[in-house]
Amino acid sequence: MSQLDQIVSQAQAAFEAASDAPSLENAKAQFLGKAGLLTEQLKGLAALPPEEKKTLGAAVNQAKQAIEALLNARRQALADAQLAKRLSAEAIDITMPGRGAGLGSVHPVMQSWQRIEEIFRSIGFDVADGPEIETDWFNFTSLNNPLNHPARSMQDTFYLEERDETGLPLLLRTHTSPMQVRYAKANPPPIKVIAPGRTYRVDSDATHSPMFHQVEGLWIAEDVSFADLKGVYHDFLKQFFEDDALDIRFRPSFFPFTEPSAEVDMRFASGPLKGRWLEISGAGQVHPDVVRNFGLDPERFVGFAFGSGLERLTMLRYGIGDLRLFFDNDLRFLRQFA
Ligand code: PHE
Repeated sequence: MSQLDQIVSQAQAAFEAASDAPSLENAKAQFLGKAGLLTEQLKGLAALPPEEKKTLGAAVNQAKQAIEALLNARRQALADAQLAKRLSAEAIDITMPGRGAGLGSVHPVMQSWQRIEEIFRSIGFDVADGPEIETDWFNFTSLNNPLNHPARSMQDTFYLEERDETGLPLLLRTHTSPMQVRYAKANPPPIKVIAPGRTYRVDSDATHSPMFHQVEGLWIAEDVSFADLKGVYHDFLKQFFEDDALDIRFRPSFFPFTEPSAEVDMRFASGPLKGRWLEISGAGQVHPDVVRNFGLDPERFVGFAFGSGLERLTMLRYGIGDLRLFFDNDLRFLRQFA
């Protein structure tokens, strides 16, 4: 083997031995660098006679080209290996199961709200919505509950610093009953409406929350009687609880805006609450003074109203013992209604 061939195969071995780019460049310097083996050969040419210079020169050049080709091949091989390594390290496993969309669900109280709307719509009731921040007049006075009347103490609420045009502070409505007046002032009779929504009171324990939901019902026409109230409300409960056997009873009570007034109790014929009377709603024939505040003649227009708690209805429907569960936002509780 000629000396040049030897240098070429030395270079090949050195390049193969280089396992990364920096050591390959070091190996290159040993052969092609200023003091490299091949460079030494070229320097040696200067002293030779012209003929030999020519042949040897061509041979050295050939060797140089061979070494450069080997160098480039090794560079490419190292780069390929590096890329392959990176690709496998950064590989995405597309066979992994996805994370899922994390679907939420409708809150149990909202489910009751929706059911109630459906039931009352099916018997011709409109559904109305009104403000949670009310004036003193709509929340109390228009409902026959004047300033300083003791009946106001049944419903303490939260007051705002902002005042209405009469100088009285605005408040968070204590019930949905102001919607009776708001709706009746805006819609001519016959009036048949429910108004579900949020209500507020200074109250907090296992069965009371400072914010809760009510649904108001109002039916006003020329010939609506207490018997209609009983029939409509009983049918509503039977549909809501999907229980045709449940019983209702009306107990005399007092509300300033109804006369006569009643508390509506119900009792299941079966199930864990079987046989116990449970208070479910306030109701009564709308007081003539309130009908007057509707802008209607109480000699001509009569009817009834009721107001029921949505949390209460939901607790009875699902057998929930503590109202606060509705507002804890504990997913273990909420998922049971998904
Ligand atoms: N607004 C009353 C309450 O919150 C309930 C009620 C409504 C009573 C309509 C009679 C008529 O307690």
